[in-house]
This record gives sequence, structure tokens and C-alpha cells, in this order.
Amino acid sequence: MHLVDEDATLAAGQKLARALPQRLTVFLCGDLGAGKTTLTRGLLRGLGHTGKVKSPTYTLVEPYKDSRISVYHFDFYRFTHAEEFLEAGLEEYFEGDGIRLVEWPDRAQPYLPAADLEVRLQVSAAGGRDLELRALSEEGQTCLERFAAHTPN
Ligand SMILES: Nc1ncnc2c1ncn2[C@@H]1O[C@H](COP(=O)(O)OP(=O)(O)OP(=O)(O)O)[C@@H](O)[C@H]1O
Ligand SMILES: [Mg+2]
Repeated sequence: MHLVDEDATLAAGQKLARALPQRLTVFLCGDLGAGKTTLTRGLLRGLGHTGKVKSPTYTLVEPYKDSRISVYHFDFYRFTHAEEFLEAGLEEYFEGDGIRLVEWPDRAQPYLPAADLEVRLQVSAAGGRDLELRALSEEGQTCLERFAAHTPN
């Protein structure tokens, strides 16, 4: 899917919000500036969050409990070694209900629990971004089908 501008990325996040189950782990893949945090911002807005959404680059995780479902937004860009994931005690966030959105998941491997959905964002040659969604579990597949069935906004 092509996302012409920032608003299109926000809209894709909002649309994904409407397709979410109670529990899902999403890996957000793509280079620096690909739009991972922007998509997360749209998703949180779609769930009813009205406050700020800041990048968890320094805090590692930002929790959002005011939205319809608990959302945990992670960013492991600054990890120098994957063991930092264990040292920070982040495993518990991956148990139970809630939506877990993970930027730079590769930097915490092999310790991260499996994802249900992989979101891939890429700067496109024409400007804008290209978005690809890939299901990695049955829950992810159901979410993808619900996403595809929704018309934008
Ligand atoms: N579809 C789009 N077209 C053009 N610019 C976009 C699009 N989506 C987002 N952007 C812009 O890209 C910039 C970087 O976005 P964002 O911070 O979401 O990237 P990121 O993938 O989270 O980067 P990082 O890996 O550094 O955390 C922002 O200025 C945002 O407005
Ligand atoms: Mg980011």
C-alpha cells in the first residue's frame, strides 16, 4: 500500500486500530525515519488516545492505558546488545492482553516473543512510504483480513 504523506500513514494506523483484537504483538520494521512512530500515533488515535505519542527511543517502552485497549510501544534502537531486553525486565509486557508495538525488534533478538503481525515501512522512490503487512500467526491473519475489509475512514 502506498502512503503519499504523513496523513496517509496516520490514517493507515487508525485503520489498523479498528482491526485489532485484545491481544497482538506487532513488529514495526523499516529504516530510520520510515514512519514507524507515525503509524503508531495513528493507531493510538484510532483507539481513542488524545494525548501525545512520543518516541520511546530513550524510555524503551511507553504504555498507553487510556485507550480502549492497553498499548505498549517499544523502541530498541539504542540497544548495543540484545541482552538489554532481559536486563530491562521487558518480557512481562509480552504476557497477557494488550497490543505490543515494537520498533527495531531485530535489536532484541533472539529474546523477543514471536510477533503476530509484521509491518514493513519503506521510503518509496516517488516520495511517501510503502507499507506492507504480513501475518505471522492466526491472530495476525484475522487482523489482516479485518484491516483489508475496512474502507478507509
Ligand atoms: N507517508 C509518508 N510520507 C512522507 N513522510 C512521512 C510519511 N509518513 C511519515 N512521514 C514522516 O517521516 C518522518 C519520520 O517518521 P517517524 O518518526 O514515524 O519514523 P520512524 O520509523 O519511527 O523512525 P525511527 O526509526 O527514527 O524511530 C516524520 O517526519 C514523518 O512525518
Ligand atoms: Mg520511531
